[in-house]
Amino acid sequence: MAAGFKKKLVTENPSFEPTLLNKRIALCFFENSTRTRFSFELASRHLGASTLSFTASSSSVSKGESLTDTIRNLEAMKVDAFVLRHPSSGAADLITGITGKSVINAGDGAHEHPTQALLDMFTLREYFGKLENLRVIIIGDVLHSRVARSNIYGLLSAGASVGICSPVTLMPPDAAKLGITLFTDLDDAIRWADTAIVLRLQLERATGGYLPSLEEYSFYYGLTDEKLDRVRKHLLVLHPGPINREIEISNHVADRIQPPGYSQSMLLEQVTNGVAVRMAVLQTLLAPDTSC
Ligand code: CP
Repeated sequence: MAAGFKKKLVTENPSFEPTLLNKRIALCFFENSTRTRFSFELASRHLGASTLSFTASSSSVSKGESLTDTIRNLEAMKVDAFVLRHPSSGAADLITGITGKSVINAGDGAHEHPTQALLDMFTLREYFGKLENLRVIIIGDVLHSRVARSNIYGLLSAGASVGICSPVTLMPPDAAKLGITLFTDLDDAIRWADTAIVLRLQLERATGGYLPSLEEYSFYYGLTDEKLDRVRKHLLVLHPGPINREIEISNHVADRIQPPGYSQSMLLEQVTNGVAVRMAVLQTLLAPDTSC
């Protein structure tokens, strides 16, 4: 379904069947977002749904209203689905227990970000034609990354091999039990992989004793042309965004789309794919008997 939506999205004047007409989708963002929020908003509008946009600072949450009371009040306005981003791990699961409406986790704390993983997997499958036996290295701050967790679960279930590469301080304590390959050396990781998902270094946490300095992190783990050339590797490079340029990824690697056959950045392609994938998620949940 997402592939069908993508095909139309990249045309000049995309138009879609309004399969979600009369549906109301609440976009509840308790944490900042650019890509996820706007892609869900566009996805909803493309399918004819109306959206209620919500940020914590402009709502009664700023007066002390709880998450559960907020959701109950929105439900009383006959909302059909909640798209929830929240800083607390487990927030989406919590509201699933209090509403009979669809709940889509748009990122909860350091736990999961399932639609990001779906769009990353869509991007990889579109490029490589399959996910089975693909070697995907996830580089960076895995410990704090909801994107990494969802991608590890998703990619493994699709038959890919997953590795993570980070300083030991940024590896999850249970990493060895996840069925993935662990690297601390970036050259070894690049040699092993077909493609890389580079993670944002969570600068807000970088001072918490995880890293000696940003410069040192960037020296050992920042993805640059020089490091790719050293192991003569032409990697397909993904990053969920937002990116810290020249920290976890160099400008040149982030922006490179040419020449074909060389390392290629998929960063903006991922963003386009995010709209298609989120359209598919919304339609599957709210109009399961329709096609794209
Ligand atoms: N990838 C991602 O979740 O980006 P946003 O925080 O901008 O939504």
